[in-house]
Amino acid sequence: MSSEASRPFPARIAIFASGGGSNAASIMDHFADNPHAEVVLIVTNKATAGVILKGHQRSVPVLVLRKGQIQNRAFMLGQLEHFQVDLIALAGFLLLIPSFLVQAYPQRIVNIHPALLPKFGGKGMYGMHVHEAVKAAGETESGPTVHYVNEQYDEGAIIAQERVVLDPEDTAEEIAAKVLAVEHRLYPRVIESLVSGLKRSNVKH
Ligand code: GRF
Repeated sequence: MSSEASRPFPARIAIFASGGGSNAASIMDHFADNPHAEVVLIVTNKATAGVILKGHQRSVPVLVLRKGQIQNRAFMLGQLEHFQVDLIALAGFLLLIPSFLVQAYPQRIVNIHPALLPKFGGKGMYGMHVHEAVKAAGETESGPTVHYVNEQYDEGAIIAQERVVLDPEDTAEEIAAKVLAVEHRLYPRVIESLVSGLKRSNVKH
């Protein structure tokens, strides 16, 4: 693996997403003109994902990959090396991240979850399932969690959370909208603070 000691900042971010990509868009827009980082790649496992268009609209390269490709160590690390990726931000990415990626990017893969982890996390807790569970539990607050990614869904160390107050009358859809609005503000800021602290010499390629 080549040394990147001579390459200056900005840090290079890859976003992995499977859905509409509203968080991906907020991250790309935040870093469109930012000295700390740039989004250099979108990876998706879904050929119809809205995030593809959002990447194209911003001239960010998009890789549409099959599950088998994402789980192929040599292929995947080769792609990330090609794009010289320093940090991976998951934004609605529904596949489990393979162990080799967690090991190749220690403390360099982050995710946003639309609830206050450790509550309402784990396998099957994605999309509206999360907000429906929050509603069913009668929670008085919810909000996004940004966390490091390890080999288990939603179990890596928590980096940041932001709370929103819920009204007892809120539907699951209204809870989702409240939380998503906060996600768009929170996630780019947390990523910026992380990349600002990245030490280039610690980044493996
Ligand atoms: C967000 O709610 C995020 O918290 C979760 O997946 C959703 C992705 O939404 N991980 P979008 O594709 O960014 O609009």
